[in-house]
Amino acid sequence: MFKVSNLASGYGQSQVLHDLNFTVEKQEIIAIMGRNGMGKTTLFKTLMGILPTRAGSIQIAGTEISGMESHDRVANGIAYVPQGRMIFPSMSVLENIQTGLPASANGVVPDELYALFPVLYEMKGRRGGNLSGGQQQQLAIARALATNPKVLLLDEPTEGIQPSIIKDIAKSLKEIRKMRDLTIIVSEQVLSFTLEIADRFFVIDKGRFAYEDTRANVDAATISRYLSV
Ligand SMILES: Nc1ncnc2c1ncn2[C@@H]1O[C@H](COP(=O)(O)OP(=O)(O)OP(=O)(O)O)[C@@H](O)[C@H]1O
Ligand SMILES: [Mg+2]
Repeated sequence: MFKVSNLASGYGQSQVLHDLNFTVEKQEIIAIMGRNGMGKTTLFKTLMGILPTRAGSIQIAGTEISGMESHDRVANGIAYVPQGRMIFPSMSVLENIQTGLPASANGVVPDELYALFPVLYEMKGRRGGNLSGGQQQQLAIARALATNPKVLLLDEPTEGIQPSIIKDIAKSLKEIRKMRDLTIIVSEQVLSFTLEIADRFFVIDKGRFAYEDTRANVDAATISRYLSV
């Protein structure tokens, strides 16, 4: 469903990502683990077209998107929940979700989204900025899902969020991938969360993959070592 080949990217003179290769199937969740500054956000910004691709290819269901503007990538089925959530604080919960809806939806939020995140239904008239961090994360995920993506990117979704909400988010993500036939790529530093949801694990170290394995064979001690060095 999603294929990244020989991807390189960076800022100005500095190349941050080097020759990244991975594929993700429908209904598969992969975790990209790595400590601060290793290139997780740079990878997602490159996949979304916020940063230009310097080399390599990005394909969704066989369509090359690496030369496209961000909005065209979204139209081709990729959605992004940025690190720090970046919801619109002065807009209501409902209006935040509506920013993700296609024009054809006429502003109507699918019941399914509220079913996944009942708290958003209860708070739909409240200002986004007045939600807790965990509720804002759920709002950011709902807004991304409103675009009806094939591939969902989540950049450190558990950052600053309390354990009970982290559990809710893990549960919703597992539900959504079945319901929506979704491919999910999540970056994280919290191994307990990714062990809960991911089918495959990658460790990114200075912009290169240093470790890769499936859930069945995952070596948690090795990943932890990369995360703590
Ligand atoms: N706008 C920028 N201009 C120049 N260099 C940058 C910029 N943003 C990030 N970098 C550098 O790129 C490298 C990768 O940063 P990136 O933000 O992708 O890391 P990360 O894995 O997301 O870290 P964190 O877990 O702290 O969010 C770092 O060396 C960082 O200093
Ligand atoms: Mg980051």
